[in-house]
Amino acid sequence: MFSGGLGQLGVECAKYLRNKYGRENVILSDIIKPSKEIVNDGPYIFVDILDFKGLQKVVVDHRVDWLIHFSALLSAIGEQNVPLAVRVNIEGMHNVIELAKQYKLRIFVPSTIGAFGPDSPRNPTPNVTIQRPRTIYGVSKVHAELLGEYYFYKFGLDFRCLRFPGVISSDPPGGGTTDYAIAIFHDIIRKGQYKCYLKPHTRLPMMHLRDALRALSEYLEVPNERLLRRCYNVTAMSFTPEELVEAMSKHVQDMKITYQPDSRQDIADSWPQVFDDSDARRDWDWKPEIDLDNLVKLMFDEVREKVEANGFSC
Ligand SMILES: NC(=O)c1ccc[n+]([C@@H]2O[C@H](COP(=O)([O-])OP(=O)(O)OC[C@H]3O[C@@H](n4cnc5c(N)ncnc54)[C@H](O)[C@@H]3O)[C@@H](O)[C@H]2O)c1
Repeated sequence: MFSGGLGQLGVECAKYLRNKYGRENVILSDIIKPSKEIVNDGPYIFVDILDFKGLQKVVVDHRVDWLIHFSALLSAIGEQNVPLAVRVNIEGMHNVIELAKQYKLRIFVPSTIGAFGPDSPRNPTPNVTIQRPRTIYGVSKVHAELLGEYYFYKFGLDFRCLRFPGVISSDPPGGGTTDYAIAIFHDIIRKGQYKCYLKPHTRLPMMHLRDALRALSEYLEVPNERLLRRCYNVTAMSFTPEELVEAMSKHVQDMKITYQPDSRQDIADSWPQVFDDSDARRDWDWKPEIDLDNLVKLMFDEVREKVEANGFSC
């Protein structure tokens, strides 16, 4: 079962896992009203991550044995509503980890490059290092990592966590600091121009959704005895807005890009620039497949298709 399943990652991740494990065996849950397409795609259930009894009922009624916990307020949105981020990201985590313990569920919780801060080495950022994030999002993710590891050591819970970089896909992003690398494609295709909220030289780790889904799916299947850690860095590339624009200019001639940094610049300046995922490569053979040129080509194709189908813009 997925919590927060109707966000940028959940919908596509459910499609991926339904192909692998069967349509009826993957349940999406969230608190938002699903589209017709979502309902037709497979089981969808309303459940608020803050409602422990509601979560218990879903696990019991549907004999859930695996929980993928995606519900969260992301970095930029979290800073706009700290009390809600504390509830959803921290209380929500308390609920799912306790649920996993009670019902012996396997549990996967994504973390992020945002779990690091200005005191961490930023280029590269190793798997184990100082983590003193300065956003509530980052603080809540460090809390989730530590709590999950604690439940693993104390109760033997099969807790797994991947720290993802910015995940790039054609679906609307959820209010994070790396969203520009998605919005730029929508705006260039629709209007030929984009105003970027980060400075041109801001380097951040990134990954196309396909690599992120493959990483998650492969990691879930690794036998416990091969895992030397419960939380792994994964990445595919690092680029700056300027380098992304350069790669995009091979596909589109007239692009007007302007830069107007906002509060997200401060967040980006505290995050890793290059992510070291050598532990994941060593322990479970993680290897990304999509580089910057391929990512740009895929995004142009996927976003054009989406814009033609429903005129969506970020
Ligand atoms: N997208 C990325 O680039 C990225 C990178 C690193 C980590 N992650 C992590 O992956 C997960 C999914 O990210 P995403 O981009 O799909 O986020 P998103 O913001 O698009 O989706 C989050 C979902 O959580 C749901 N939610 C909010 N409050 C809830 C509540 N009270 N109960 C149940 N659901 C609730 C929202 O309705 C939303 O559908 C998050 O935990 C995020 O931290 C994402």
